[in-house]
Amino acid sequence: MKVFINKRIPEIGIKMLEEAGLEVFIPEYDLSNAEWLSYCKSHDVILSVGTDFKYDKDFFNECPNIKAIALYSVGFDHVDIKEANRLKIPVGNTPDVLSKATSDVAFLLMQSVARRASYNFEKVKSGSWDSFDPLHALGQELYGKTLGIFGLGRIGFEMAKKSKAAFDMNIIYHNRHRNEEAENELNAKYVSFDELIAESDVLSIHANFKPEQNELFNSSVFEKMKPDAIFVNTARGGFHHQKDLYEALISKQIWGAGLDVTNPEPIFKDDPILELSNVCVLPHIGSATIEARNGMAKLAAENLIAFSKNEKMLHCANP
Ligand code: DGY
Repeated sequence: MKVFINKRIPEIGIKMLEEAGLEVFIPEYDLSNAEWLSYCKSHDVILSVGTDFKYDKDFFNECPNIKAIALYSVGFDHVDIKEANRLKIPVGNTPDVLSKATSDVAFLLMQSVARRASYNFEKVKSGSWDSFDPLHALGQELYGKTLGIFGLGRIGFEMAKKSKAAFDMNIIYHNRHRNEEAENELNAKYVSFDELIAESDVLSIHANFKPEQNELFNSSVFEKMKPDAIFVNTARGGFHHQKDLYEALISKQIWGAGLDVTNPEPIFKDDPILELSNVCVLPHIGSATIEARNGMAKLAAENLIAFSKNEKMLHCANP
């Protein structure tokens, strides 16, 4: 079985595939769309890294030879899962192994915005670290405040757990399903979407992105949030309307925003949001730890190895 990996992943995953007798091809440079497609056409299975390449109907029409896709990600919004199901193509993904790392970044952004880290960092770098000022650069404390989680799955649960332990935050959440574990362990309260946005001091997105949720967090949402609320997005940039968020931030409709994902991605160099002192932007590094990235490599390889033995993948995005 010929495996195409579009970008180098940690060695552990490559070694596992080779030891299992699979033939692995990895290009040594970033591929254009046309190059990626041509490699897909000449392979049986894909270990797909990143979300730039789209596995839509056109892709499946052009690559009828593809038998399975193992994503090197937990998110699968770049794959037409319905079409993959119709064609009986399993699509593996990598949940769990990155939940801690990704929720760490949400927690980091929440705190960075609350304590105005970007603003203060810039002050130091620009040489304007003045003498102690009791009224300057004041952040806010998170103790006992309300954390609203949109999408309380594995990553959202980890974020809620950390926030509860560190700041005894009240957890409210909105989800497709009730999360009994979170309700029992963290006293999390299920609320409607409107209650979530109105009551959250910190609103953190952790849901799987679906096209119908495109720019769900727009001006009509930001205007209903508290003026001292912090908006955190570590899920997918498509969840928020970037310009509306900018407007909400400059007009002080909300306190600040922490983004590990942007809309579009990568963010434009001249996006005015980057100039704001109440914003902290990271370049989609949620899962960027040695531990999580090794775990993802291992799980993606395990998914393909299982497939090569006619077994079910360990984790599949297909229902
Ligand atoms: C994921 O695993 O979905 C990360 O966001 C990387 O794409």
